[in-house]
Amino acid sequence: MAKYRIAILPGDGIGKEVTEAAMMVLEKIGLNAEYLYGDIGWEFWKKEGDALPERTIDLLCSTDVCLFGAITSKTTDEASQELGPSLSEKGLKYNSPIIRLRQLFDLYINLRPCKAFSGNLLNYREGIDLVIFRENTEGLYSGVEFHPVPLEVRRILEEYNSNMKRFSFAGNEETAISLRLVTKKGCHRIVKKAFEYAKQFGRKRVTLVEKANVLRETGGLMVREAREVAQAYPDIIFDVANVDAMTMWLIKNPEQYDILVAENLFGDIISDLGAQLVGGLGFSASGNIGDRYAIFEPTHGSAPKYAGLGKANPLAMLNATVMMLEWIGALDCARALERAVRQVIIQGEVRTYDMGGKASTTEMAQAVVKEI
Ligand code: IPM
Ligand code: MN
Repeated sequence: MAKYRIAILPGDGIGKEVTEAAMMVLEKIGLNAEYLYGDIGWEFWKKEGDALPERTIDLLCSTDVCLFGAITSKTTDEASQELGPSLSEKGLKYNSPIIRLRQLFDLYINLRPCKAFSGNLLNYREGIDLVIFRENTEGLYSGVEFHPVPLEVRRILEEYNSNMKRFSFAGNEETAISLRLVTKKGCHRIVKKAFEYAKQFGRKRVTLVEKANVLRETGGLMVREAREVAQAYPDIIFDVANVDAMTMWLIKNPEQYDILVAENLFGDIISDLGAQLVGGLGFSASGNIGDRYAIFEPTHGSAPKYAGLGKANPLAMLNATVMMLEWIGALDCARALERAVRQVIIQGEVRTYDMGGKASTTEMAQAVVKEI
């Protein structure tokens, strides 16, 4: 019997192409694993009205870890328009499957390292080594949303919050609400993980990225929890920055930051920024990590524009594969793959279009395989 059972969810668009690249390196590296492919993405939304079929959830439950390619996420209206006639009358609502997976499996950490590799000449900036801890299950992604706003909800909001009265000019159809819901537990555990990581890897500073000067309740709870957690780590510097200012400082002095921790949407935004600082989404990988299960994925999306062209840089997916190998404890394999990726970047002979080259997804994967 194989040592690991790994779920493989290629998804849509370039997700499929970069997953093939990952399978090429996994095969070469000789991990003692069984790979189980699952259905997810746009194709299944159109065919079945569900982008994350129940059978895929069952499959994940039977595995140790998951490697995920990418899926197309569209707005509710666009998604409804693409349903076939037999499904469109059912009133189905599209929800991003990756968001559902994060919440379903309580994968509360979205770990996004942003490290500069010296051979990627197009975007290289010396000395950047950020690690982003994005809260992955609540905040503005809670999914507690209303449109139209039910009368009862509106009445209660007006009763408890005088600001709500300012919106009485707009009817329920003309009003939409997305709730930024955070919990003490949610804030506490993500900050705690950020500090634990800092301690484990000798990092010096943890910066909480918030907007507590305006989002007083949710931001306030996060800041209070973070300060409390920070007390247990007197050797690690703790500071709080506003998210707007942070986007500026990250462009100005990215080398000065170490570990960043943020609520879901703020973490989403700063992690794309962080990715671009170290060469773009072609390099950036994420781990959706819980206490018992984890899903690793490139930070990029399915890039419909590039789908099927074989142009996508698979290195983000290969970096995600490194993170997955680390998480399951296959450390030798992780180091070998990490080294191979770094070598290929440093040599700079094989480069995809985002690196200023002409190599295809497969050629890049082959270069890494050769290096292994
Ligand atoms: C990410 C992506 C997702 C997100 C999308 C695809 C739903 O942007 O992983 O950062 O918003 O979290
Ligand atoms: Mn994102």
